[in-house]
Amino acid sequence: MKMIRKLTLTAITATSLALGGGAAIAAGEGGHVDDYAFSFEGPFGKYDQQQLQRGLKVYTEACSACHGLRYVPIRTLADPGGPSYSEDEVRAYAAEYFEVFDEELDDYRPATPADHFPTVSGDGMGPDLSLMAKARAGFHGPYGLGISQLFRGIGGAEYITSYLLGYTGEEDEVAGQFLYENTAFSTGWVQMAPQLFEGLVEYDDGTPATEEQMAKDVAAFLMWTAEPKMMARKQAGVIAVTLLVLLTTLLYLANKKLWYPVKHGGKQARL
Ligand code: HEC
Repeated sequence: MKMIRKLTLTAITATSLALGGGAAIAAGEGGHVDDYAFSFEGPFGKYDQQQLQRGLKVYTEACSACHGLRYVPIRTLADPGGPSYSEDEVRAYAAEYFEVFDEELDDYRPATPADHFPTVSGDGMGPDLSLMAKARAGFHGPYGLGISQLFRGIGGAEYITSYLLGYTGEEDEVAGQFLYENTAFSTGWVQMAPQLFEGLVEYDDGTPATEEQMAKDVAAFLMWTAEPKMMARKQAGVIAVTLLVLLTTLLYLANKKLWYPVKHGGKQARL
């Protein structure tokens, strides 16, 4: 009981940290979210390694200035099931793009795979994105049982894609603060200016960098940061369900066999 309470508290703290204390309204409450297809949906869905690599590129070049990923260790970029870079590539990436403050040196130094992605905070900066894809998952579906999520995805990546593509071009200024109209955001207006435009990044795999492509790629990458073990979890789920079906069938047959003589007036079955 105590353990459960502790876990719940930790989860709540982690979520509110991820939300940056700001707008904590889930998708679905007024926001317009389109249903984009992702490779990791469905009981057998998996992350697309190429897409995660493209998404990391978009994050690094277009988002990391304002959004940290403080819960994500850089070394996990080499994990199987993720972007799966080689350890050398991850080391080079960490050193090239990020600096971290080292307490021992009392100075900044280039990041290594052992570091986490930096924490970003300050004026005009956005909330940490490590867990955003889960924080914004919409739990639609029959009575919230998650049946629809199992087949159609949990909604976090769809929300982020819709958010990045949801700008109408309308702007407003309220008390010196610029706001941009966004159809996916719950209140309809956000402080984050539109970030994506065609050709913003150049993909190594030659995929054309359209706005929609970049939005989906970075959303897939952020789904992975929020749930890096999704594939293993789904696999375990599929195995569990298969075993349960098998067990149910065996029990049914055993039951039938045991009662056959009774129902048909014969002798008692011998156990
Ligand atoms: C110039 C700084 C800046 C850049 C660059 C930036 N953002 Fe943001 N972002 C913000 C701010 C500020 C907010 C908070 C907006 C609000 O609550 O009105 C935000 C909010 C968000 C949210 C949360 C929306 C919600 O539901 O609360 C997501 C998701 C997001 N940004 C994703 C991204 C992605 C992905 C990129 C890169 C393509 C990116 N941002 C680039 C400043 C930025």
